[in-house]
Amino acid sequence: MYDQIKATAAFIKEKTQFNPEIGIVLGTGLGGLVQEIDIAHTLPYEAIPNFPLSTVEGHTGQLIFGKLGGKNVVAMKGRFHFYEGYTMQQVVFPIRVMKLLGITHLIVSNASGGVNPYFEIGDLMIITDHINMLPGNPLIGKNMTEFGPRFPDMSEAYDKALVTLAKEVAEENKISVQEGVYLALSGPTFETPAEYRMVRVLGADTVGMSTVPEVIAAKHAGLKCFGISIITDLGVPGKIVEVTHADVQHVAALAEKKMTVIIKEMIRRV
Ligand code: HPA
Repeated sequence: MYDQIKATAAFIKEKTQFNPEIGIVLGTGLGGLVQEIDIAHTLPYEAIPNFPLSTVEGHTGQLIFGKLGGKNVVAMKGRFHFYEGYTMQQVVFPIRVMKLLGITHLIVSNASGGVNPYFEIGDLMIITDHINMLPGNPLIGKNMTEFGPRFPDMSEAYDKALVTLAKEVAEENKISVQEGVYLALSGPTFETPAEYRMVRVLGADTVGMSTVPEVIAAKHAGLKCFGISIITDLGVPGKIVEVTHADVQHVAALAEKKMTVIIKEMIRRV
C-alpha cells in the first residue's frame, strides 16, 4: 500500500509541479470554497492512478490545486465514506497522498446530527475531539512506519491552536460557532431515537458518518488537523423528525457562506 501511495504522489507531483501546504477535504458545506481558490490544476479522481472513485450523490471527485488566502492548497472535492463500501485504507488513501505531496495541515468539514440540546439546526460546530465508533480504524494492519508510529497519540487530534484561531476568526466576522465532540457511526442509516440518545450518553455533541478516519490517518502522519461541522438536523428528544439527504444538503448550503469565510481567513493566518 505504501508503494501505491508513493506512486500516486509521484504521478501528481510530475503532473502539477505544485507544492501544497494545506490539504482541505471539501465535505458537505464547503463546496463553495472552490470558487475562492485561484486554481492552478484540476485532476479528476479517475485520472489519478490508485485513487478510489466517489459514488455518493452530491459529491463529485476532483483534486484541486491552487492558491487560497495566500497559501498553496490542495482540495479534495468529493470524499470517500466507509458506508460506500470502501475499506478504511481506501477512505484515507488521499490523505496519505496529500501528506506525501507536502501538506502540514488538514482541514475537514462535514454535516452532522446534533445531539447537544443547546444546538440548533444550521449551527456550525468546531470539532474539538472525536469518538471513533466506526467498525474499524484505518491504522489496523501492518503499521506504515513511513507515516508514523504503531500507537499514535490522540491527546490532541484536533489542533488546539487551530481551534483558537477559528474562534477568533468567527468572532471577528460575527459568526456564532459551537464547539464539541463528533462521534462517527458507519451509516448509511441516520440514527434511531435510541441511537441518538446513545450518542449523547457516550459524550458526543454530534454524530456523522465521516471525518474520523481521515483525521486518524492525518494525525498518525503528523498533520495538524482542523474540523468543522454543520448541524443539519437534531437528534434531541422532542425535536427528532424525519431526515433526508436532501434536507442535510439544503441546511448545509445555507451555512456554506459562513463556513467559507472562517476557513479562508484561517488559512490566511496559519
Ligand atoms: N446522523 C448521521 N449523519 C448525519 C446526520 C445525522 O443525523 N446528519 C448529517 N449527517
